[in-house]
Amino acid sequence: MKTAYVFNGPNLNLLGTREPAVYGAQTLADVEALSRAACEQHGLALDFRQTNHEGELVTWIHEAGRAQAEGRAAGVILNAGAYTHTSVALHDAIKGAGALVIELHISNVHAREAFRHHSYISPAAKAVMAGFGVAGYPLAVAALAGM
Ligand code: DQA
Repeated sequence: MKTAYVFNGPNLNLLGTREPAVYGAQTLADVEALSRAACEQHGLALDFRQTNHEGELVTWIHEAGRAQAEGRAAGVILNAGAYTHTSVALHDAIKGAGALVIELHISNVHAREAFRHHSYISPAAKAVMAGFGVAGYPLAVAALAGM
């Protein structure tokens, strides 16, 4: 069984209380449960993580790239949070590790502030999803299973 990695970046541990008008009322634990149910449905194992540290995301993407190269991983669903808009290091990590990444955002970043319109992840990603709320996570799992 291949693993679907779901990596969440900074401030996503605050889901449920963080700007609920933007991100909804569901917690990160709820998001993990949604992702797990989708993985079970699609025959994938789930490795679900969150960190507030950019370098940790870099290391995790390297790990996922290795697992993918060894045939053990389906790919990565990456919500890099604000690092999406700032991190050349994450861009380089995805390319360097050869990881298949679906970039995911809970909110529609293109309907928000101009500083959220640019992503360093998108040019290195296989696909981009934004604006489906936390329902985007199971949708991304289904997409990953079909890739
Ligand atoms: C986010 C959008 C980012 O702009 C923001 O910094 C986040 C969350 C989203 O899921 O909508 O932390 O990635």
